[in-house]
Amino acid sequence: MPKFKIGVIGTGSIAQLHLGAYATNPDVEIVAVSDINAERAQAVADQFGAKRAYGDPNQLLADPEVDGVSVCTWNNTHASWSIAAVKAGKHVLVEKPISRTYGEALELQRVVEDHDRVVQVGFVRRHFPNCQVLKTFIDAGDLGDIYYAKASCIRRVGNPGGWFADKEIAGGGPLLDIGVHVIDLCWYLMGSPQATAVSGHTYAELGNRANIVNLPRYRVSDYDPTKNSVEDMANAVVRFDNGASLLIDASYSLHAIKNSIDVSVYGQKGGAELEPELKIATERHDTVVNIEPQIAARTDEITVGFRNEIANFVDASLGRAESVAPAWHGVEIMKILEGIYESADSGKEITLV
Ligand SMILES: NC(=O)c1ccc[n+]([C@@H]2O[C@H](COP(=O)([O-])OP(=O)(O)OC[C@H]3O[C@@H](n4cnc5c(N)ncnc54)[C@H](O)[C@@H]3O)[C@@H](O)[C@H]2O)c1
Repeated sequence: MPKFKIGVIGTGSIAQLHLGAYATNPDVEIVAVSDINAERAQAVADQFGAKRAYGDPNQLLADPEVDGVSVCTWNNTHASWSIAAVKAGKHVLVEKPISRTYGEALELQRVVEDHDRVVQVGFVRRHFPNCQVLKTFIDAGDLGDIYYAKASCIRRVGNPGGWFADKEIAGGGPLLDIGVHVIDLCWYLMGSPQATAVSGHTYAELGNRANIVNLPRYRVSDYDPTKNSVEDMANAVVRFDNGASLLIDASYSLHAIKNSIDVSVYGQKGGAELEPELKIATERHDTVVNIEPQIAARTDEITVGFRNEIANFVDASLGRAESVAPAWHGVEIMKILEGIYESADSGKEITLV
């Protein structure tokens, strides 16, 4: 069977994980990469044995050998490169968030609807083994209907600097960058209900804490702490059309005791904590019990998650599977995120439909 030929646009940190996963997929050949930093593109092409490195992604999209692309650029070009790729006949796996704004996401969605191409969003945590196990329990009805969920991603010293801290390029701060993962997990596990209203706050009280010397932080490829125009933290409550609600918080900078990730969903028949460890609470014979599914791949879950995500993208592109994270899911999440910023700016609850 001929290989699915891949090109990757943007060859920074996350591209390493995409390319690592493509390299181990037996159905894939990595043929080209592209980055506005042409030296970086060439180095990554050499690392992964890609035949061609382009300084301009338009050249990659014009390459007739490329069947599908990963878009791993800054947030400000997620939608535009995805649109250009679909119009060039390529399938697309676009990193999260799907775009910088809800308007850009809708523009991409319109193009998706007019073309017969797979556009998948990089909600990689859906593909982690713990989420896959919990989804199986939920789909089997073990939790009943989920009416409440909590999504929290707290970094106390976690502003990555560079473009991540530039609102013009990133579109937003921790809410859009790391909150998006846990919000999406809850929304996915809740069964993708329609969000109807949000009420949120954002704060910029501590800045990027570039002064902190005793704790390590993730730094973007082109680290620069001198600019910071994003929020330190955000919180919100989201209402859904089925009566369910979701409580959110996310931070880059906060006087918290520790970094933490919490994802919990609660239904009529059971509840579950996905993070920090998968545990399910329910009743048996008038007795409350906690179930602890044993997850084999926990220590290696990032590599496994990316391999699963890329396998799903390749299978969907080859018509062998449904995409677990189609474009419209990214669009719905952008609607919620933008609504939270709007609510924070206006000091009012925002109606979304
Ligand atoms: N799924 C995850 O868990 C996860 C984790 C980290 C980052 N991300 C996402 O991945 C994306 C990239 O993040 P990163 O950490 O790799 O950033 P990065 O800065 O390390 O890499 C981005 C690369 O894109 C290049 N680039 C920017 N604009 C471009 C353009 N118009 N055309 C071609 N190349 C361009 C940059 O030169 C850089 O090499 C972001 O959208 C981020 O939200 C996802």
